[in-house]
Amino acid sequence: MANRPYIVGNWKMNGTRALLAEARAIDRGAARASGVQVAIAPPFTLVNPLAEAVQEITVGGQDCHVQAAGAYTGDISAAMLKDAGATFTIVGHSERRAMHGETDAVVLAKAQAALDAGLEVIVCVGETEAERDAGQAETVVCAQLQGSLPTGADIAAKVTVAYEPVWAIGTGRVPSVDDVSAMHRAIRARLIAIYGEDGAGVQILYGGSVNAGNAVELLSADEVGGALVGGASLTAESFLAIVVAAGGSASE
Ligand code: PGA
Repeated sequence: MANRPYIVGNWKMNGTRALLAEARAIDRGAARASGVQVAIAPPFTLVNPLAEAVQEITVGGQDCHVQAAGAYTGDISAAMLKDAGATFTIVGHSERRAMHGETDAVVLAKAQAALDAGLEVIVCVGETEAERDAGQAETVVCAQLQGSLPTGADIAAKVTVAYEPVWAIGTGRVPSVDDVSAMHRAIRARLIAIYGEDGAGVQILYGGSVNAGNAVELLSADEVGGALVGGASLTAESFLAIVVAAGGSASE
């Protein structure tokens, strides 16, 4: 399956309406990079304004609740994201797993809720530095995949996996290309074990300190189908440089 490289910006808890100007510039750049699929997951308050401001890129949530509606103060459901213009949501980001105590079972329930609402999902996995130092990185990531990925007929086509080593997120440190390749090959093998043939078509993104300077190298690693980008997705200049590195031509 020849998917286009998929470059997703995760704005985290950053951005007011002032940042819509960057989103428009990203959208214009994405329009010139037809070989690359570009998306942004803004804070919930910007999902609808952003969806209405852009034409080329897709817009997603950063999380969703397991229920469709109810007495869950402060939470947001997948159906609400869809209604606001989202086409996907991230689930299981390591900041949610670490700061909100989300287990694999919770991440799975959220992924299922998103699919039920008609959204695609990006399921995040990744080891801590201590786990890597202990030689447990692949074991940890494969267990997360097994526990967090929704299964069932025709599900694989709606799922993207993001491998984000926790120690590389927001730190400026990245794994070697060999380590990224080894992990992505292990993830591919696990996807095929879980989904059968369909597992070969699931895109696997790398995330963690991706920037314009390292994107070409990281994207060249085995089985890397794109990137999940935090800090460098907050300006059109730095984000479009990554889009270009992914094979588009965002600069005219
Ligand atoms: P970063 O974040 O690019 O700022 O390291 C990536 C992420 O957490 O998705």
